[in-house]
Amino acid sequence: MQHLLSAGDLSLEEAVLILDTAAELAAVTDRSVKKLPTLRGRTVVNLFFEDSTRTRISFELAAKRLSADVINFAAKGSSVSKGESLKDTALTLEAMGADAVVIRHGASGAPHRLATSGWIGAPVINAGDGTHEHPTQALLDAYTLRRHLRGGAGDLAGVRVAIVGDILHSRVARSNVLLLQTLGADVTLVAPPTLMPFGVESWPCRISYDIDEVLPDVDAVMMLRVQAERMQAAYFPSALEYSRRYGLDVARMAALPSDAIVLHPGPMNRGMEISADVADSPRSVMVEQVANGVSVRMAVLYLLLGGMKEESA
Ligand code: NCD
Repeated sequence: MQHLLSAGDLSLEEAVLILDTAAELAAVTDRSVKKLPTLRGRTVVNLFFEDSTRTRISFELAAKRLSADVINFAAKGSSVSKGESLKDTALTLEAMGADAVVIRHGASGAPHRLATSGWIGAPVINAGDGTHEHPTQALLDAYTLRRHLRGGAGDLAGVRVAIVGDILHSRVARSNVLLLQTLGADVTLVAPPTLMPFGVESWPCRISYDIDEVLPDVDAVMMLRVQAERMQAAYFPSALEYSRRYGLDVARMAALPSDAIVLHPGPMNRGMEISADVADSPRSVMVEQVANGVSVRMAVLYLLLGGMKEESA
C-alpha cells in the first residue's frame, strides 16, 4: 500500500493489519508519556482545503504521538486564497521535503490527482474528498465496531450495520460501505429517495427507505449529518419532517436490540438526524470514535511511512 485514497483499495489483510496495529498503538495513549519515537525526523503535512475539526486535529495528534514534525496547512490564510493551484502548492511541499501528505479537499478525486500526478513523491492520505471518500473515518468506525460487538473479538463478518441519513453527500457512507463489505459485514443504507445516490443499487449493500423497518435487526446504527452546505436544492420538505421520518430519537432507539450501539462521525446536528438525549446516551459511542480516530491514524501513518519495516530491520 503506497497511498490511502479509497477504502476500496484495502484488501482484507491490509484492513485487518491497520486495525490490529491501531489496537497496539492505542496502548500508547494510556501511558502518561504518550509518545513513540517511530517517525522522528519525518515531516507530515496536513493539507486542509475544507473545514475540519476532528479529522485535522486527529491527524496532527497521531503524527505528533509518533514524533513526526507536523505542518498544518489550511487553505484559508494561505496563497490558495490568492489563486495558487493544487499543483503549485504540491510542488512547494515537495521542495520542503514532506514525507507524507494528508489532504482534505472539496473536489472529489483531488487526493488521487495528487498521488498520481508526479508532483510529489510522498504517500498521500485522503482525509475526505468532496462527496467521494473518507477512508480513515471508515477505519475508525470499523475499529469502534470491533471493540463493541461480538464481545470485542474483532471479527465483523455478518455484523449488521445500518447507515442512515444523507447518503447522497456522504463520503463517510461510501467509504464505510466499501470497507465493511471487505470485512464481511452486512450493511443497509437508509435515506429518503432524494438522498440516495444515483446508481446505489449497484453498491454492495441493502437499501431501505424506512428506518423503523431496519432498526430492530441491526447491531449498530450510524447516523449521518444532513450536509446542508452541499445542497443546492431542497431534498426534503422541512427539517422537522426530516427528523420525524429519519431522525434517531429515544423512541426509535428503544426499537434497537438491547446491545446495539449508535455511531455518528460528527459534527452532529442535534435535533435533526439525532436527538440530544440519544447523542448523550450511554449507547452512543461518538466520543470513543474520536479517540479511536487517533489510534487508527497513527497506524496508517506508521504503516505508510514504513515504520514497520525499519523496526524489524
Ligand atoms: C465527516 C466529513 O467531513 O466527511 N466528518 C468527519 O470527518 N468526522 C462527516 C460530515 O461532515 O458530516
